[in-house]
Amino acid sequence: MRPKTVGILTSGGDAPGMNAAIRSVTLRAAYMGMETLGIRDGYKGLIEGNFVKLTREAVEGIHSTGGTMLRTSRCPEFETEEGMQEAIRQCRKAGLEGLVVIGGDGTFRGALDLTHRGLPCVALPGTIDNDIACSEYTIGFDTAVNTVREVVDKLAATIHAHRRCFLVEVMGRAAGDLALHAGIACGAFAVLVPEVPFEMPQLISEIQRAHEKGTDNFVIMVSEGLTGTKHSDKPTIHQMAAMIEKELGINSRGDIIGYMQRGGIPTARERLIATRMSSHAVDLLTENIGGRVVVMQNSQIVDMDITEALAMKRVFDRELFDIANSLHV
Ligand code: F6P
Repeated sequence: MRPKTVGILTSGGDAPGMNAAIRSVTLRAAYMGMETLGIRDGYKGLIEGNFVKLTREAVEGIHSTGGTMLRTSRCPEFETEEGMQEAIRQCRKAGLEGLVVIGGDGTFRGALDLTHRGLPCVALPGTIDNDIACSEYTIGFDTAVNTVREVVDKLAATIHAHRRCFLVEVMGRAAGDLALHAGIACGAFAVLVPEVPFEMPQLISEIQRAHEKGTDNFVIMVSEGLTGTKHSDKPTIHQMAAMIEKELGINSRGDIIGYMQRGGIPTARERLIATRMSSHAVDLLTENIGGRVVVMQNSQIVDMDITEALAMKRVFDRELFDIANSLHV
């Protein structure tokens, strides 16, 4: 029998496009004759029974906003057996018979645990980092790339005016996708990512070569996974800029874009993919199918087993990286 009520929660770091997903889960479920409950604060809200009925009115217009209307959290209690049993109890009490969760690998594990305990759950990949092995795309990535693009387009004025070398640090945790895609979009001189070993002297000599041939301003897009903090062995973005200035005499600066990369109005592509993934998730739940994650593979929206998804190894697009780092003379 088709479930009468399904739920939706967002977990881990917020990402633009999560609201578009919440809206389309609600509307697709209604179209299929099901009600939707929103769970506030991720898995924490599931344990606390912090549920809100989502209606057409409640989700109207949210697709164009960043963040998540349901809020999010990281919840260690949920990782205990008692926490999970309490979550199941709360779901039964509220009549929840299926759940869509949006987040990263930790969120997927929660979905699997709940499915094993009798609540069918379907997961969607959501993070600006695009670092989930099983999917070519994660909800939030395109907007974050565009946010970086917008910021660097603005920085370009001062970089050009002062003939500077700017090292721009972007988010991504241990993944370089955001730096890579944004770097190409911004016409960066070079892109540095944690997946590919890098030597400072080599970067300096490439800048020097281009400088001698007439390039007088540079954007170097650097992924946060590659830089250090003040207290680590790896140089910070500011220390890297100082090294370049010292070696080459080119006026250099480091700039960290920071948390604004998580916000902003979701792009059209973001909303489209979030909607396609969510509709697919709801359709699985109508058949009482859980333990699946909806992903993009070969540009298609498909679903796969969560256990298999979690076992996959992430592949970095080395070919694109090589292109990004060959676009200077
Ligand atoms: O995973 C998204 C992300 O924004 C990363 O790019 C970044 O490293 C991290 O979250 C920051 O996490 P927090 O919000 O816990 O500081």
